[in-house]
Amino acid sequence: MIDGHTRTCGLIGNPVEHTMSPVIHNSLAEKLSHNLVYVPFKVEEGQILSAVEGAAALNLLGLNVTVPYKSQVMEGLVQVDELAKKIGAVNTLVRTEGGFKGYNTDMPGLYRAMRSEGIELEGEEAVLLGAGGAARAVAFLCADRGASKVYMLNRSLEKAREVAGEVNQKTGRECIYPMALSDYRELPDRKFLAIQATSVGLYPDVDRSVIEDRDFYRKIHTGYDLIYKPSTTRFMKLVKDNGGQAFHGLKMLLYQGIIAYELWNGVSVSEEMALEVYEILKEKMGIKE
Ligand code: ATR
Repeated sequence: MIDGHTRTCGLIGNPVEHTMSPVIHNSLAEKLSHNLVYVPFKVEEGQILSAVEGAAALNLLGLNVTVPYKSQVMEGLVQVDELAKKIGAVNTLVRTEGGFKGYNTDMPGLYRAMRSEGIELEGEEAVLLGAGGAARAVAFLCADRGASKVYMLNRSLEKAREVAGEVNQKTGRECIYPMALSDYRELPDRKFLAIQATSVGLYPDVDRSVIEDRDFYRKIHTGYDLIYKPSTTRFMKLVKDNGGQAFHGLKMLLYQGIIAYELWNGVSVSEEMALEVYEILKEKMGIKE
């Protein structure tokens, strides 16, 4: 029941119409009997700073931030968490005295999702496909969590070099190796964890993967695609067809939301409850596996 005590959280971005975040947060609020609602707020170009100021004035408890404002929003915050600063992107705003503090829960979310599937990063040799915003954050996560080597393959080698250099420098570890996507045959002959962080294969572009060659997929023991629509990407299919296990990115979405919810409410959500919300999320999206 919405009443005078109801706290409001929400998502700011543009577009916001397809977001699944209200499902995550409103389910958690219901399960935990919190008097809280979560709503989407579409913010027009040029309005992000007034939106943040307005949210503070309206006493909103917290916000998620999505495309295209994850970097721009930082200017309107009173504080930015160290990890978010390193990554250069904020997806969660938490109310503090005087304004909002920014966090990045996407990477801890991916980490928790991987852990929940039994995937390790510590000591792993990984292949990371892409060097865009998402791949950059994954590279930070891998470096931070002790991956031994990460081959960052990107269509533009220049961009991979730039991102790898920055991550290596900021984490003080020389573990990210930039490579041109077309040079994938030069990867050592062993089995890797592969993380797919390009936009290739995302709905409606469902019939494509950045690499088609079976010889590449024979080197993958586990494939993790950040895409969750479709729930089986061509990349995932190729990994499975060649003997590996493959996962889509819906659990990452789930856990980035759960970590934001924990920050806003000072609670910790059990794995059992997380999986209950995951079932609701899958049902809403018509995903079976
Ligand atoms: P995001 O925020 O989702 O990471 P992005 O920053 O635009 O989006 O990055 C998109 C990534 O997908 C990049 O790594 C891009 O490669 P380039 O840096 O070479 O552009 C990759 N990508 C997009 N379309 C691609 C395609 N057709 N083939 C190969 N890589 C592609």
